[in-house]
Amino acid sequence: MEFIRTEDYKAMSRRAAAQIAAQVIQKPDCVLGLATGSTPIGIYAQLVEWYKRGELDFSRVHTVNLDEYASLGAEHEQSYAYFMRDNLFSHINIDMINTNLPNGKAEDTDAECRRYDALIESFGTIDLQLLGIGHNGHIGFNEPGSIIPGTHKVALTQSTIDANSRLFASKDEVPRFALTMGMKHIMQAKRVLVVANGEAKAEIVKRAFFGEITPDVPASILQLHPRLTVVVDEAAARLI
Ligand code: F6R
Repeated sequence: MEFIRTEDYKAMSRRAAAQIAAQVIQKPDCVLGLATGSTPIGIYAQLVEWYKRGELDFSRVHTVNLDEYASLGAEHEQSYAYFMRDNLFSHINIDMINTNLPNGKAEDTDAECRRYDALIESFGTIDLQLLGIGHNGHIGFNEPGSIIPGTHKVALTQSTIDANSRLFASKDEVPRFALTMGMKHIMQAKRVLVVANGEAKAEIVKRAFFGEITPDVPASILQLHPRLTVVVDEAAARLI
């Protein structure tokens, strides 16, 4: 594991964005696994800035996102599909046809999960998977307790619902279920890049990357990945 401490959120974002940019430059038709949430917003802003300066070309890049809320369509402002367009896809020259998220509105969830797994497998493997980390150690929406290999529907834990309610008008509006990529495709990615910032992530960063490897902390499984990079700011590295 490469553990990189940076001064602050901006430095964390720049450092992680540089890894993604290097991947796109080295392999212009790479497959990027992407995450949503607050943490990667600065990374996407940095990639957009470099793209606008003419330094990056996303025209041949494919993306697969980790997850989507069940029941939210792509036009819903809190959907992850909306987030990705808003923060990244609309600002770069990626072909929208090459961007992928689970369909939260799919009527047949099992069929949708199978479709998403087949899609990822049609790419071979993900070249670089970007991940944030939940306060309870979740990655994607692989919540503590059980390790499920493929894409699946998951009931969000109260901790995740509470954390995500900041983006909704009220806690009642936070969807209770999500579709998430499973641990198999995350672990099969050629490289995994985890980002975390802020004091509130310090405890889980310590447990996940310097503690016991256990399904109770899904991110701890990443310690077994041969090419794991963790980029954190000073506040998140406080207990290391
Ligand atoms: C988002 C995702 C989640 C988040 C995690 C951290 O696609 O899969 O695992 O990465 O909940 O979220 P933030 O960055 O908002 O703290």
